[in-house]
Amino acid sequence: MIDTSRFGPWAVVAGGSEGVGAAFADELARAGMNLVLIARTPGPLDETAAKARAHGVQVRTLALDLLAADAVAQIRTATSDLEVGLLIFNAGANSYGHEFVTGDLDGFRRVITLNIDRQLELAQHFGAPMKQRGRGGIVLLGSLAGYLGSEQQSVYAAAKAFSRVFAEGLWIELEPYGVHVVELVLGVTRTPAMQRAGLNLDLPGMLVAEPADVAREGLEHLTDGPVWVAGGNYEAARKRSGFPRADLVRSAARALRKLMNRP
Ligand SMILES: NC(=O)c1ccc[n+]([C@@H]2O[C@H](COP(=O)([O-])OP(=O)(O)OC[C@H]3O[C@@H](n4cnc5c(N)ncnc54)[C@H](OP(=O)(O)O)[C@@H]3O)[C@@H](O)[C@H]2O)c1
Repeated sequence: MIDTSRFGPWAVVAGGSEGVGAAFADELARAGMNLVLIARTPGPLDETAAKARAHGVQVRTLALDLLAADAVAQIRTATSDLEVGLLIFNAGANSYGHEFVTGDLDGFRRVITLNIDRQLELAQHFGAPMKQRGRGGIVLLGSLAGYLGSEQQSVYAAAKAFSRVFAEGLWIELEPYGVHVVELVLGVTRTPAMQRAGLNLDLPGMLVAEPADVAREGLEHLTDGPVWVAGGNYEAARKRSGFPRADLVRSAARALRKLMNRP
């Protein structure tokens, strides 16, 4: 169970209403951590908050779109009186998939704004006071997709690669100050967002993780950064990091077509 004296008393979960984000909220509330939960849709946000409060912790909810220009200003205001010892940047599943050259640049920009801009802004805003206090943790949600280029999700995959390399840099900068950074890399995980996207999660031999398991694993390995590959996907991540790139990219593309029910 997470040590609230090192990573508390408050945790901010950006994308904390459902799936892996809700599982983090549950796990942290059980450990006695107070929570700020952020997501767009108020219903699931309030439900997750109510479940967390049942463990006796304080919970603030912020129903906002992280893409909004004033999103970070709203988060700063809503947390200005709190000591935030843990940031979990979870929101960020691919929201726009398309062949790049014929795609909508604004759609791609939204993927970048959420996965890169907001991640950087919140990591700096909450990371600076953690460094001063000499304790804290930052968890960035990564993906196996971030290990190689992908058709129809070239920008998402590249954004996840950015996050992983950024996490490594942040880790080496903050480690001497007692602040732990980890890129928590997920493979296919049974979240509501994936189910809404209509992914074929029942392919034979496919590893599908449950949100509660990867959230628990991530918190257990918060001090094992800079990168922790969850859900038994370490070997897949290692293979995807190899050469020759053309073979790896083609074979991952075939697997992704099956997952997404594409010819
Ligand atoms: N599920 C998988 O198979 C899988 C695999 C690899 C990596 N991951 C990573 O794991 C993380 C979680 O993925 P997920 O499948 O649970 O989907 P997700 O769409 O990232 O949703 C996660 C949470 O973020 C919130 N959210 C999404 N967009 C938001 C926005 N613009 N503003 C504010 N909140 C937002 C969602 O609530 P609202 O929709 O109500 O805002 C939800 O609470 C992502 O970073 C994803 O890349 C997932």
